[in-house]
Amino acid sequence: MDGMLSIIYMHPINDIRGSSSSRLAGKTIVLGITGSIAAVETIKMARELARHGADVIPVMSEAATKIIHPDAIHFATGHVPIIKLDGAVKHVELCGETSSRADLLLIAPATANTISKIAHAIDDTPVTTMATCAMGSKMPIVIVPAMHGSMYKHTLLLQNIELLKEHGVIFVQPKLEEGKAKIASRDDIVHSVISCLGDNTFSSKKVLVITGPTSEPIDDVRVITNRSTGFTGVQLALEAYYRGADVEVWAARGVDVPHMLNVKRFESVGDLEKMAGDAKADVILVPAAISDFLVEKHQGKVSSSEPITIRLTQAPKILALLRKNTEALIVGFKAETGIDLEELESRAIKRMKEHGLGMIIANLMEDVGLYDTKAMILRMDGKKDIFELKKSELATIVFDIIKGE
Ligand SMILES: Cc1cc2nc3c(=O)[nH]c(=O)nc-3n(C[C@H](O)[C@H](O)[C@H](O)COP(=O)(O)O)c2cc1C
Repeated sequence: MDGMLSIIYMHPINDIRGSSSSRLAGKTIVLGITGSIAAVETIKMARELARHGADVIPVMSEAATKIIHPDAIHFATGHVPIIKLDGAVKHVELCGETSSRADLLLIAPATANTISKIAHAIDDTPVTTMATCAMGSKMPIVIVPAMHGSMYKHTLLLQNIELLKEHGVIFVQPKLEEGKAKIASRDDIVHSVISCLGDNTFSSKKVLVITGPTSEPIDDVRVITNRSTGFTGVQLALEAYYRGADVEVWAARGVDVPHMLNVKRFESVGDLEKMAGDAKADVILVPAAISDFLVEKHQGKVSSSEPITIRLTQAPKILALLRKNTEALIVGFKAETGIDLEELESRAIKRMKEHGLGMIIANLMEDVGLYDTKAMILRMDGKKDIFELKKSELATIVFDIIKGE
């Protein structure tokens, strides 16, 4: 064998593990798959969990194996699915009170049959036996129902879901459409898993995030708006959710907010002015791009045959209204262009003082790349940090700083 290269074969799942984030690195997730047609969605979902670093160990009910072949699940996770329990007592190893216990039991999709059996401690499939052990050993459990609408209306099933919630099981709500209770989106499931395994440092906190562009109507059809996408705010809201906070998002129309976050919509500065009185939170983050001007609106649809004059008047400052109505730690954002860092800092400090902000995140548009950005984070007590980072890392850093305040 001298001189020969020996190559250790790694299953292809290892090519993608951790490629999106390390939020689930080192975590073992037992994935229970039951006999719903939504089992066909499981492959991509399992791989998404791996992209966040998780090791996913699949367990299938017999009904699930008739819907999706165990080889496909083997490929998706890198593990041969457990389809039968035997003398190795894998249910005890993975879900019992042992040092080898996994971190989470995720059942996705979960049939009406499996949910009701778990609620009554019946275990007659590999998935329900894992669940009985997990319930007894107080292991975190996330259940993702999927079934026909008529099954999901069954009052006894709904009572069983409530019973399991009372016992600490987390449910990811199905999408009720086309007469079905369809499995939640892949993102919603992954967000719920990350939150369930998160550090819970904000579990007693209410966090409000206001995000996206305002739109001021010129007439009944047209608006003046800006290029904000609301993306940063959604990342901040998710970070708060991962850390166990009670999260509310006020998002501009069109901003895509994950389903498990409470969302209220706004369009104009006027909407935010009315909503500001309802802002009840411990922390309020305002990355929204709020217009500095109101438009004197024309009635109907203005004809395009003639030039028109639009009159702009000063808009109320939403940050000031929030400050007046709440004791919350308010985090503002300031984007500038064409100035140096010193000037950016002095403008940001002025804004922070003007509106009684606890923190402000300032950046120059020139420093914002497609994936990377440079952000200056200033605090009321004079502390200053400058970060050059991936956009997706900003939310983590902001919440690490808030946690330390
Ligand atoms: C093609 C097909 C699709 C099914 N889809 C669902 C479903 O989405 N949800 C559900 O609760 N049951 C569904 N069922 C019925 C379950 O497979 C059946 O109740 C089975 O006993 C569930 O067993 P399990 O919970 O051990 O997997 C489906 C059955 C078939 C044949």
